[in-house]
Amino acid sequence: MSAQNTPLVQAIQQRRSVRGFTQEPVPSEIINEILTLAQQSPSNCNVQPWKVLMASGESCNELRNTLKQAFVSGTPMNPDFSALPKFEGAMRDRQMDCAFALYGAMGIERSDKPGRLQATARNYEFFDAPHVLFITMQRDFSPSIAVDVGMYAQTLMLLMSAYGIGSCAQASTAYYPDIVRDFFNEPQESGILFGISFGYEDKTVAANKASTQRADISEVVKIKS
Ligand SMILES: Cc1cc2nc3c(=O)[nH]c(=O)nc-3n(C[C@H](O)[C@H](O)[C@H](O)COP(=O)(O)O)c2cc1C
Repeated sequence: MSAQNTPLVQAIQQRRSVRGFTQEPVPSEIINEILTLAQQSPSNCNVQPWKVLMASGESCNELRNTLKQAFVSGTPMNPDFSALPKFEGAMRDRQMDCAFALYGAMGIERSDKPGRLQATARNYEFFDAPHVLFITMQRDFSPSIAVDVGMYAQTLMLLMSAYGIGSCAQASTAYYPDIVRDFFNEPQESGILFGISFGYEDKTVAANKASTQRADISEVVKIKS
């Protein structure tokens, strides 16, 4: 078997952000299998600094309602970790392309502010997913530890992809960290990095038609031979 046809390569190729889910829950045995496999992720000195807070079914609905209410009522956001920087140059272009792809698929014009607001609000509805999980890291840890947690999160999402489960990483759901901490009865030092909504893709949802591109490796790799 060539490397191109391995399940890993297929999982990487298939994975993309899913922003519309069916109500069908993912069986808990499958979720446990994925979470167990994701524990294979590497980390500095094998400290495994990630922690996952997961809600399904009614709990997921309760958290969805609370976060949505915070967003629509204009509750001030106070992320534990600094929000996105102001991107410039190629990164700004890619950020714009990403927004155009999503709003384009959803039929939202750039000038349509209420439409864009509604699209943003979908984050707090977890795009109707039957499950959400939050990836956390101790708040005083440095970016060198966030690297470990990022590797874990990508392992998790690739595993979901391999199991035919759609997911969307969502920094936006971490903008009300106190709500998430209260909900899971987590201590203050537990920093909320981002959420991941997951479940089975609803292929009829327009947002799921969005597709993003990637830069050529010549833009991101410097090789000296
Ligand atoms: C850490 C992280 C945070 C993200 N936050 C959001 C978010 O809040 N809302 C959203 O719709 N997508 C979010 N995304 C998804 C990205 O927009 C998406 O990964 C990117 O555009 C590439 O598209 P793809 O995932 O379909 O390949 C996030 C992705 C990552 C890795």
